[in-house]
Amino acid sequence: MGKIIVTGASGQFGNAAAKLLLQSVPGEDLILLSRTPEKLAEFEASGAQIRCADFDDPLSLPSAMEGGERMLLISTARVGTRVGQHTNAAQAAVAAGVRQIAYTSLFGVDAPGNPAIVKNDHLATEIAIRETGAEYTFLRDSQYAEAVAAAMAIPALQHGAKPDNCGDGKVGFVSRDDCVAVAAGVLTQDGHGNRAYPLTGPEALSIPQAMAMVSEMAGKPIQVQQVSDEEMFAYFDSLGVPRHASDIVPEGPIPWSSEDMVTFGASIREGYFDGVTDCVERITGKAPRSLRSVLEQYQGEWPV
Ligand SMILES: NC(=O)c1ccc[n+]([C@@H]2O[C@H](COP(=O)([O-])OP(=O)(O)OC[C@H]3O[C@@H](n4cnc5c(N)ncnc54)[C@H](OP(=O)(O)O)[C@@H]3O)[C@@H](O)[C@H]2O)c1
Repeated sequence: MGKIIVTGASGQFGNAAAKLLLQSVPGEDLILLSRTPEKLAEFEASGAQIRCADFDDPLSLPSAMEGGERMLLISTARVGTRVGQHTNAAQAAVAAGVRQIAYTSLFGVDAPGNPAIVKNDHLATEIAIRETGAEYTFLRDSQYAEAVAAAMAIPALQHGAKPDNCGDGKVGFVSRDDCVAVAAGVLTQDGHGNRAYPLTGPEALSIPQAMAMVSEMAGKPIQVQQVSDEEMFAYFDSLGVPRHASDIVPEGPIPWSSEDMVTFGASIREGYFDGVTDCVERITGKAPRSLRSVLEQYQGEWPV
């Protein structure tokens, strides 16, 4: 098997994927990419090749991709500006000889009518990857259980309340660790070319149910306040969150927009995240982690 490229190896997903891949492939068979290769110093001893790649600078990409046969393309962080970046990366990889691209996409990405604007970038990227002619493996991750355990639970416990526009819509929360394990699996096993895998945890729960679990585990109240999309926008306005991706200040303090969050909530409310699949277990051989198990992992970080 040829070399595996991991983009965004400095990020949360990519770092974990690189570490997991090193358990099953020799370091020499990994190519790890970042705009700042110094961030990857911890991998030097493994023998992995550490290279600089900036998706905004296509000239940096041919040498970064050289020698790769498979690639894990991890979506970059800023919604609304990513399609060109991902397209540059995919095209350069295929020009350098990459034959399979696994991409971190989104659950429900191709569901007609899904209002979550975050899906637009993912869908356009999936199309761009297909157009390269490489074999594709789309990892359509549901919402991460880690996001509930940290970004959602901590402020909710601090304030004893959580404004929310998700209604009783359910989400098959999935652990990022399980998504990482699937990514490693599809890159090291045969038979995953031209497949799209919706990745979920073992059960679908609503946000009020998830917050009730957090509240019970922490022994502190959380009141979920059901609000309209307009009220949700007003709440984010009060926190100074930019409304649209185009309003985000580059390198500013808040790299996401309220339009992204509010439409994501509407998507949950309308049922677009309500689903459970067996893809994690089929690909990793292990049952997916429950939300409770991820909450237990993060419980020590919660306010007392
Ligand atoms: N399903 C969910 O609930 C959920 C939740 C959170 C995130 N996600 C998705 O998962 C993705 C990865 O999450 P994460 O937590 O690992 O994000 P992260 O820690 O912010 O990592 C993003 C990576 O992208 C790389 N990157 C950014 N801009 C780049 C560019 N112009 N050229 C090359 N590389 C670039 C960064 O590398 P350098 O800065 O080192 O270049 C970084 O390693 C996110 O983008 C998002 O799409 C999904």
